[in-house]
Amino acid sequence: MSDFVSGFWNIFVAGTVLVSIVACVVLLWAQSSATHNPGSTTGHVWDEDLQEYSNPLPSWWRWLYYITCFYGLFYLVMYPGFGSFAGQFGWTSDGQYQNEMKKANEQYGPIFKKFLSQDVSAVAANPEAKEMGQRLFLTYCVQCHGADGKGSKGFPNLTDKDWLFGGTPEQIKESIINGRNAVMPAKGVKPDLTGDQIKDLSGYVRSLSGLSADSLRVQRGKELFGAACAACHGAEGKGMVGVAPNLADKVWLYSSSEESITETITKGRENRMPAFGEFLGEAKVHLLTAYVYGLGGGEPAAAAPAATVAPAAAAQAAPEPAAAKK
Ligand code: HEC
Ligand code: HEC
Repeated sequence: MSDFVSGFWNIFVAGTVLVSIVACVVLLWAQSSATHNPGSTTGHVWDEDLQEYSNPLPSWWRWLYYITCFYGLFYLVMYPGFGSFAGQFGWTSDGQYQNEMKKANEQYGPIFKKFLSQDVSAVAANPEAKEMGQRLFLTYCVQCHGADGKGSKGFPNLTDKDWLFGGTPEQIKESIINGRNAVMPAKGVKPDLTGDQIKDLSGYVRSLSGLSADSLRVQRGKELFGAACAACHGAEGKGMVGVAPNLADKVWLYSSSEESITETITKGRENRMPAFGEFLGEAKVHLLTAYVYGLGGGEPAAAAPAATVAPAAAAQAAPEPAAAKK
């Protein structure tokens, strides 16, 4: 309850409070016995002729003050405030918070539960769920991905079909629960690239998405790309989900400028999406997954690949993926 390291300060504060209240009561009591002398003055004069009568304090005022003092004592007995004494009511700000959280969970728990039992595409189509998802997104995700989910430099756009880690419900959920960490090593897998070769590579990367580049550099860059970059970005630079972004489209995580691409190749890049699974819990993650899925880039559930493996198993697993996780 108190942040003092030494118990002395608790006693000091409690003593000061008690002495102050008692002193107020004693002072009031002393004043109440002052005699009433009609007509006599204190002898003080202001503004030439303004005098002060020597009257006792009005009783209503004195009693109000007594009540205030007793209320103060009552408060200190019931609530924390008197040194380290916790108060008879046992109230704490943390307890109040926990209570409110409990009430909120009781109120919203069933709604969360209802959505948790539905699959992501169904939740994404529900306007109430969308509103709840948006509120969560605006609380926890907005600072990096923007209010509209379109991201900014270094923070991916979540509304397009260009996914670094995949846009199926499972993949989106995985991104949110465990976070993501992408590392592009400096100079790819060829640490001996020279500055000139890096320029060739930049030219080639730009040419992949139809941007202007020196044709000689593009040609030389293309050969280097196979050795230094294709392992992650693919032979044609189209990227691989979960490994490295597509360089042959118009979507840039950083920038399409030659300077930015050269910087990426020279220094490498590292990017991190924090893990939210433990912090937000299953139900909120489910709503957020549906919200992100519904922003426009969502890809059909993995039901397709699962079905090609074993339709029966997929059908069996489908109704209760949430239950299985608990
Ligand atoms: C601190 C910044 C930050 C916050 C907060 C954040 N993200 Fe991210 N997010 C990122 C970064 C950076 C990436 C790209 C990660 C990478 O490339 O390794 C990312 C990636 C993602 C991806 C994968 C995108 C893809 O193209 O595959 C999803 C989905 C996502 N975030 C959703 C969310 C949601 C939902 C929230 C809120 C709960 C959130 N993020 C909060 C920074 C953040
Ligand atoms: C080990 C795998 C790996 C290799 C090898 C690799 N990259 Fe990357 N590259 C990545 C990853 C992962 C990212 C995304 C980094 C991030 O999210 O910050 C990336 C990002 C980039 C980007 C930024 C794309 C954008 O949208 O802004 C460029 C450009 C790039 N790489 C070019 C290259 C070139 C050229 C090479 C060869 C010299 C190369 N990469 C080799 C993994 C790799």
